[in-house]
Amino acid sequence: MDLSQLYPLMTDTALEPWLEILPRQVEAGLSNDSYGKLAEWQAALAQLPDIQAGNMDFNADIVSIGGEPGLDKKEKARLEEILKKLMPWRKGPYRVHGVYIDTEWRSDFKWQRLKDAIQPLAGRRVLDVGCGNGYHSWRMLGAGAELVIGIDPSPLFVMQFQAIKHFTGPQPVFVLPLGIEAMPDSLRAFDTVFSMGVLYHRRSPMDHLYQLKQCLKQGGELVLETLVIKGDEHAVLMPEDRYAQMRNVWFIPSSRAMMLWLRRAGFKNIRLIDETYTGVQEQRATDWMRFHSLENFLDADDMSRTIEGYDAPLRAIFIAEAP
Ligand SMILES: C[S@@+](CC[C@H](N)C(=O)[O-])C[C@H]1O[C@@H](n2cnc3c(N)ncnc32)[C@H](O)[C@@H]1O
Repeated sequence: MDLSQLYPLMTDTALEPWLEILPRQVEAGLSNDSYGKLAEWQAALAQLPDIQAGNMDFNADIVSIGGEPGLDKKEKARLEEILKKLMPWRKGPYRVHGVYIDTEWRSDFKWQRLKDAIQPLAGRRVLDVGCGNGYHSWRMLGAGAELVIGIDPSPLFVMQFQAIKHFTGPQPVFVLPLGIEAMPDSLRAFDTVFSMGVLYHRRSPMDHLYQLKQCLKQGGELVLETLVIKGDEHAVLMPEDRYAQMRNVWFIPSSRAMMLWLRRAGFKNIRLIDETYTGVQEQRATDWMRFHSLENFLDADDMSRTIEGYDAPLRAIFIAEAP
């Protein structure tokens, strides 16, 4: 992974201390020893055609890269074939030189729910924790962020991001193969930190909140999205095993409990800006993600329940200010 464009953007900023460990972290996060299929994905990336990007739109529901002249039918089919070697594509959608990547998630729905409620991103340094393949990171850039760093420990998603970036050319957006636990202590460097779809995967949600706080400058904004349940500030669900077939789901608080957790972690000016049930228009199997999806995770006789008998997925978005 070539990070030569990132390093100068970190030098002489509050991000500089991270540079001491970052190269080693990136190397470990993409080590062939740890991830058997990495070589296959890298080979797919190497097959991507070099096409000069023309029009690019990071500020629309479909993150798009186009160019003139467009690809002919055969070239388009070949590009689709290469991109499909990186399946499953979960977050999107994207359109790359006429190839529409119809991802499992319409991630634009989530962006629509939060984009007008957050501090404008223009000129801000942004961290997108658990960014997946970086769909929202592109949208943050489209909203004017000066620098976006996404982190995600899944190398496939990092490869998908690289595939998209291959076509955009240099842009101040990066996805690094790291988990939140790799962030240096007390960095306090970002103007906005997003943690979306991550908290319920953490065994210790309070530690997660403290880690997010350590990434934010004083007065910086946290945008946190997570699964919630209905209930008062003492209501928290810990599933016995899976939740909507997802492994590694630990704590699902009510929105009021989540706000209490944010207060206890020291955040100020905490607001709940949205609660929405996930629908089958937002998360579904497609030609680019052929495994089971939400429809199969809900009780066929009662779509308000998961197949394990819990309430169906309800997601909430919170905004808070770092002290
Ligand atoms: C449900 S997805 C959310 C993706 C995206 N943020 C969104 O909201 O659409 C959760 C992501 O968190 C990542 N993740 C899992 N453990 C993590 C950790 N310790 N630190 C950062 N990200 C993590 C997963 O690889 C996955 O891509």
